[in-house]
Amino acid sequence: MKAVYAERPCPDDPLTALRFGERPEPEPPDDDWTVLEVRSAGLNHHDLWTLRGSGVPSHRYPLTLGVECAGTDDTGRDVIVHGMVYGREFLDCPVRDPAWTMLGEGRPGTFAERVAVPRHTLVAKPPQLSFTEAGAITGTWLTAYRMLFTRAELLPGRTVLVQGSGGGLSTALIQLGRAAGLRVWATSRTGWKRDLARELGADQAFVPGAPLPEPVDAVMESVGRDTWAHSLRSVRAGGCVVVAGATTGALPPAHLTRIFWNELRVLGVMCGTLAELRSLLTFMVAHDLRPRIYREFPAEDGAEGFRLLAEGDVGGKIVLNW
Ligand SMILES: NC(=O)c1ccc[n+]([C@@H]2O[C@H](COP(=O)([O-])OP(=O)(O)OC[C@H]3O[C@@H](n4cnc5c(N)ncnc54)[C@H](OP(=O)(O)O)[C@@H]3O)[C@@H](O)[C@H]2O)c1
Repeated sequence: MKAVYAERPCPDDPLTALRFGERPEPEPPDDDWTVLEVRSAGLNHHDLWTLRGSGVPSHRYPLTLGVECAGTDDTGRDVIVHGMVYGREFLDCPVRDPAWTMLGEGRPGTFAERVAVPRHTLVAKPPQLSFTEAGAITGTWLTAYRMLFTRAELLPGRTVLVQGSGGGLSTALIQLGRAAGLRVWATSRTGWKRDLARELGADQAFVPGAPLPEPVDAVMESVGRDTWAHSLRSVRAGGCVVVAGATTGALPPAHLTRIFWNELRVLGVMCGTLAELRSLLTFMVAHDLRPRIYREFPAEDGAEGFRLLAEGDVGGKIVLNW
C-alpha cells in the first residue's frame, strides 16, 4: 500500500528523510485490533519530531508517519482514531500504561491507505464533521480540550493566554476557548496570524513578549524556550501554566523563584482520554466548531504540507487526503 514515511531519523534536515511510496500492509497484533481504510489525516508537529528521530529508536525506521486520522473500520463504520496506543485498563489515563505509545511513533502511523489500531481507541465520526475535519482533531483539539478544561479547569469569563497562535494546537485553543466563554488573548510572530487569531475568536492578539493589559488566569504553552519567561511573567499569582509542547526548545531557564513566590502551578498535558474525546466531539457539534483547515493535499503531494509546517507557515491544520 502507499504511505508517507520517514526513511531514517534526520535531526538536522528532517524533510530530506520524507518519502511517499510502498509500505507493507498493516499487521494487527491480535483480534483486539482492526484495520481502517484511512480517508483523511492531519499533520502535526509531532510528525516533524519523528522525522528528526526525537524519542524514536533508530531500528523503528523506515516508519510510517501520522498520529491522527478519520476513516472507515472493518464494519463499515466511519470513525475517528484516538492516536494513542494503550491497554484497555488504562482508559482513564493512557500515560500510566508503561507500554503506551503513539501511532506514527511506536506503531506505523495514519499517513497510509490503511492503518492498524486498537478497537477500543475508536469513536464514531459525527456526521456533522467532514472526513477532512474529523481527521484533524485528535492530535491537537483533544490536547487543547484537556489543557483548557481538565487541567486548567477554566470557567466562562476567565482569561487565558495562548502562546504562538498560528499552529494546529493554538488555533484549537482559541476556537474552543472562545466557544466556552473565556476571554482569549494570543501571541504570534506574524501579523497575518494575529489577524487570524482575532478572526477565530481571540479578543486581543499581541507580538510575542509584549506586556499584557493584566495578568491572566492561565497560559497555554507549547512554544517552549522562546515564550517560557513571558508565560511565567503573564500569569497571575495562583494561576497556572499548562505545558503541552516545546517547539523552540525544552530547556529554558526555569525561573523557579517566580513559580514559588507567586504559587504558580505548572501542569503537563499529553493528548487526552477517550472520554474527553467524546465530550470534545459533543461540544464541537453543539457549537458548530470545526478545525480551521489551512491547506489540504492529496497524500502523494504531502511533502508540500510538511514544508509549510517545518517553516512555521501555517494558520490552522494541514490535512492529507486519500
Ligand atoms: N502534548 C501533546 O499532547 C501535544 C499535542 C499537540 C501538539 N503538541 C506540541 O505542541 C507544539 C505545537 O504543535 P502543533 O502541531 O500545533 O504545531 P504547528 O502547527 O507546527 O504550530 C507551531 C506553533 O509554534 C509557534 N511558534 C513560535 N515560535 C516558533 C518557531 N520559532 N518555530 C516554529 N513555530 C513557532 C507557532 O506560532 P506563530 O507562528 O503564530 O508564532 C505555532 O503556533 C509542538 O511542539 C507539538 O509537539 C503536543
